[in-house]
Amino acid sequence: MDTHSCRKSGRKENNPDGAGPVPEQQPELTGITWQKETGGTGYRFFLADETATENFGRLLGTLAADGDVYCLSGDLGAGKTLMSKGVCRSLGVEEEDVVSPTFSLMNIYNGTVMEVRHFDLYRLDSPEELADIGFYEYVGGEGVSLIEWGDLFVSELPPEYLQVNLSIVPDGRVVELIPLGLRYNAISKEVLRHVNAGA
Ligand SMILES: Nc1ncnc2c1ncn2[C@@H]1O[C@H](COP(=O)(O)OP(=O)(O)OP(=O)(O)O)[C@@H](O)[C@H]1O
Ligand SMILES: [Mg+2]
Repeated sequence: MDTHSCRKSGRKENNPDGAGPVPEQQPELTGITWQKETGGTGYRFFLADETATENFGRLLGTLAADGDVYCLSGDLGAGKTLMSKGVCRSLGVEEEDVVSPTFSLMNIYNGTVMEVRHFDLYRLDSPEELADIGFYEYVGGEGVSLIEWGDLFVSELPPEYLQVNLSIVPDGRVVELIPLGLRYNAISKEVLRHVNAGA
């Protein structure tokens, strides 16, 4: 595996005034609805359109802290990269910098609020390849880790993370949050609170 496959964004500081992190405004939550009737964990939401998917990511980004790990799973085209873009945006990454890491395997973004490490494990075959791309050093370190297709390597994931499952439904997407650990349970509850407050 080529260790140069990691792509880094060139920007170090996005705030033109150099005044430090730009506080993220709460995203518009139109088109995001809690699917109360489905039971289960209670953290299941319908996303009516692309904007809702990206804004859900932005909400997850506003709730993120250093060291947090979000694993995004779901079929091809379910919306993992689009939701990751939302997370990146709320952490101060220039929108045009964010690209799918399907081929680069990992992208690092120097967001003005926090660094983001964005992985896509779809094309990897073994834990040795994960080591080659620096997965074990980077995940859970400073900044936020986003892992697309993390479910392909469940045994290699940290003990606690937020599992974000996306599924394609006829008229949009459904996202389910499965928190592993108290920290992620708190984030999931906050998401629910924001969505219901915005309804
Ligand atoms: N809520 C939604 N309703 C309808 N279409 C959506 C919604 N959210 C995302 N999409 C569409 O789904 C697609 C998601 O693409 P994206 O690259 O984010 O998927 P992905 O899960 O990362 O796929 P891959 O596994 O190939 O990396 C885009 O075409 C986007 O327009
Ligand atoms: Mg993707």
